[in-house]
Amino acid sequence: MQPFANEPILELRRAAVRSRLADALKAHDSRPVLRVPVWIGDDTREGDDIVSTDPGKPDRVVAEAAAATAEDVDAALSAALRWDVPAETRAGVLQKAAQWLRDRRLDVAALEVRECAKPWPEADGDVCEAIDFLEYYARGALDLAQGAPLLQPPGERNELRWDARGIVAVISPWNFPVAIACGMTAAGLATGNAVVLKPAEQSPGCALLLARALRESGVPPSAFALLPGEGDVGAALVKDPRVHTIAFTGSNKVGLEIVRTAAEVQPGQKHLKRVIAEMGGKNCVIVDSDADLDEVVPALVDSAFTFAGQKCSAAARVLCHEAIHDALVERLAGAIEVLEVGQAEDLEIDVPPVIEEDAQERVARYAAEAERHGRIAARARSVPNERGWFAAPTLAADLPADSPVINEEIFGPLLAVERVKDVDEACDRVDASPFALTGGLFARNPDTVDRVVERSPVGNLYVNRAITGAMVARQPFGGNRLSGTGTKAGGPGYLLQFVEPRVVTENTMRHGLVV
Ligand SMILES: NC(=O)c1ccc[n+]([C@@H]2O[C@H](COP(=O)([O-])OP(=O)(O)OC[C@H]3O[C@@H](n4cnc5c(N)ncnc54)[C@H](O)[C@@H]3O)[C@@H](O)[C@H]2O)c1
Repeated sequence: MQPFANEPILELRRAAVRSRLADALKAHDSRPVLRVPVWIGDDTREGDDIVSTDPGKPDRVVAEAAAATAEDVDAALSAALRWDVPAETRAGVLQKAAQWLRDRRLDVAALEVRECAKPWPEADGDVCEAIDFLEYYARGALDLAQGAPLLQPPGERNELRWDARGIVAVISPWNFPVAIACGMTAAGLATGNAVVLKPAEQSPGCALLLARALRESGVPPSAFALLPGEGDVGAALVKDPRVHTIAFTGSNKVGLEIVRTAAEVQPGQKHLKRVIAEMGGKNCVIVDSDADLDEVVPALVDSAFTFAGQKCSAAARVLCHEAIHDALVERLAGAIEVLEVGQAEDLEIDVPPVIEEDAQERVARYAAEAERHGRIAARARSVPNERGWFAAPTLAADLPADSPVINEEIFGPLLAVERVKDVDEACDRVDASPFALTGGLFARNPDTVDRVVERSPVGNLYVNRAITGAMVARQPFGGNRLSGTGTKAGGPGYLLQFVEPRVVTENTMRHGLVV
């Protein structure tokens, strides 16, 4: 197998590539609405309990999904069997699934544009990341199958092996609708478990394409089931004693509930459940007095507003040295006011709509709060005047320390700037937060960089660059504190969450032969 390399992203500046995107979208729109079934073994059951629509044109239906019932959850768990084949076979199938996605790359991206209002570069990046997870964990499975070197004194043979834990319930969010579901699922399958996937209710169509990629590439019916549905389906999986591992990515509230429920041993349960939880954040970027604002402003705008701030890694707070605070606010305001909000398919826009009406209302609520107790320093001027879940990128300033705007995850295009007297005060504020997902620093002095690196609790710290866009094998990703269980998706230790270690020790000093 070739060494791992990231899937190259599309060069969207090329006219030929752009016209292929337009063709892919046209082809997507000419197809019937996607029907997403509950898919257990070889059985499928369609329905229209969940209707997924285009956030930019809410009247456009993208997919209709059946919602899994309690009986479906039971049937999926009863049918699930560990994928008990050599690691080489599993790795080969996962690589085939990566190729399946490569072959349909633009179709999958077009669906993301429609179903989640992912702008093209983001949609393409998501498909590439999904491919990366499949390729990376396929290689990881082969490495794990080697076991680990142990001391072997004379007369003794020691072996450490890792076995599949059992059934993995994957519960995924909508904001990276293929990549995150794919990453958690691929990790579960690579290590020989059975996976039951409960995708986000906002993106069942994307989940169906992932399910097809896996099943059409050779993942056996008993090793993978698709259970579309709302939160109750996830909750039923979390509670069931047959589930061994829960791989969850989503909000803090749901993640904490999962951790609590999974800790209770249910009647008949003979194992402890393991929870891998990747949750929300309130990501801070520290800007020191010597930072170059020509670099800071575009990086902050990119980190806070690309995909309308709906990345778990997005910048939410800027902690700026008082010496340059006013200059930064003025320049950020200028950059934000001219951001173009519009339809995700339009390559000229900067900010797409948010995922749903609730999200639009949530952003408006926090903006009103910022206006009441602080100041709105800027708002994008160009927001479409049509039905769609558009939210104006907003910059808030002069907020009190206890404002919910700087303490709660908003998950939308609202950035708050705070004035600090120096980098140490900024570090104190970061340290006071219960979240520790991503963070950033702009500073030129290497001693400052070292000090912040030393003090920062976050899972992913970015220095002198934007704070989003982690790539598999380059920036293993995941948060600490209440942002996550500290596991690193796309990193070297990730697969160990999905396996159980066993050590076998044999006395090799045989006494005589058994006849
Ligand atoms: N740390 C990361 O790597 C990461 C990555 C992406 C998103 N996120 C976070 O995800 C959130 C956005 O995603 P979302 O809105 O889909 O999150 P969400 O928590 O609302 O939903 C996530 C998934 O959990 C399911 N769910 C809801 N209630 C449940 C329950 N009681 N039991 C079990 N499952 C339940 C949902 O149906 C969905 O499939 C943000 O907070 C964001 O920061 C984190």
